[in-house]
Parts: sequence; C-alpha cells; structure tokens
Amino acid sequence: MKAVNLFFFLLFGFCSLAFADKPLYVVKDGKVDKATEKGFKVWRAAACERCHGNNQQGMVGPSLIESLKVLTYEEFNDVILIGRNEKGMPAHKHLEKIDKSTGIKKVDLLYAYLKGRSDGKIPKGRVRSFEK
Ligand code: HEC
Repeated sequence: MKAVNLFFFLLFGFCSLAFADKPLYVVKDGKVDKATEKGFKVWRAAACERCHGNNQQGMVGPSLIESLKVLTYEEFNDVILIGRNEKGMPAHKHLEKIDKSTGIKKVDLLYAYLKGRSDGKIPKGRVRSFEK
C-alpha cells in the first residue's frame, strides 16, 4: 500500500471511530439510559399526555406512536418548538433549552424517548434508568 493510501486509510478509520453515531436511546431489561429517562420526565413535565394520551396512543392530538414512524427529526423539532397553533398543537418554546443534568436540549431528549416508544422498544409508563 502506498504511503498516501495508508494515510487516508488511517484517517478514515479514525474518523469513523471518533464520529461513530451514538444510539438515540438504550434499553436494557426494560430500563433505559439516563438521557432517555430524562426524556420521559420532559414528556411528563410538559403534560403532552393531555392531548396525546398517557401512552402516546392519541386523543385530541394524533398517536405519537404512529407519527414518530414518519416524522423526520426536523419536522418533529419544528412542530414542538413552533407548534401548529391553528390546528391545536401549541408551541413549546421552552423545550429548546438545554437540560442541565445531561447537557442535551430538552426537545432532543423528548425525541429519543418518543422514538423508542414508537419503535416499540421502550415500555409504557414511568421508565427508570439502569445508570446511576
Ligand atoms: C393542547 C393539546 C396538545 C398538547 C398539550 C400537545 N399537543 Fe401535540 N398536537 C396536538 C394536535 C391537535 C396536533 C395535530 C396538529 C395537526 O393537525 O397538524 C398535534 C401534533 C403533534 C405532533 C405532529 C404529529 C404529526 O403526525 O404531524 C407532534 C410530534 C406532537 N404533537 C407532539 C407533542 C408533544 C411532544 C407534546 C408535549 C411537549 C405535545 N404534542 C403537546 C395537540 C397537543
């Protein structure tokens, strides 16, 4: 192998390690990672269940189990932060703030939790973390 090829081989190898995608959420024996547990708490604190149901099954608002199968991350982000006021989905501007305990935006914590619910991986109701 030519030196220049070797250089790129090592460079890309390193990059793929350095930027390996972290999974959105982790579930082990019905328990979740810390950030996902926080996502559940954001869901509860924002009282989304008033319109989307306790288990995201849908009420006045659509089932988020179904919605999260089709919405892109950008669409999700917009509907949460900007809302669709004329259609009854209020804006939740405060969810743009960074959660202090995880260093992650609240809307992103929420996204990970709801994605896991939609994927059928996260059990319904109160979830607890396997991390301490
Ligand atoms: C006051 C009732 C209400 C509350 C509270 C509410 N929603 Fe909604 N939501 C709706 C309605 C109604 C729609 C459907 C809007 C439409 O027809 O486009 C909606 C739409 C959505 C959508 C887009 C669904 C899709 O398929 O396009 C998402 C995602 C969503 N809500 C998530 C949330 C989350 C997360 C919360 C809590 C932070 C929340 N909503 C709080 C009523 C509500």
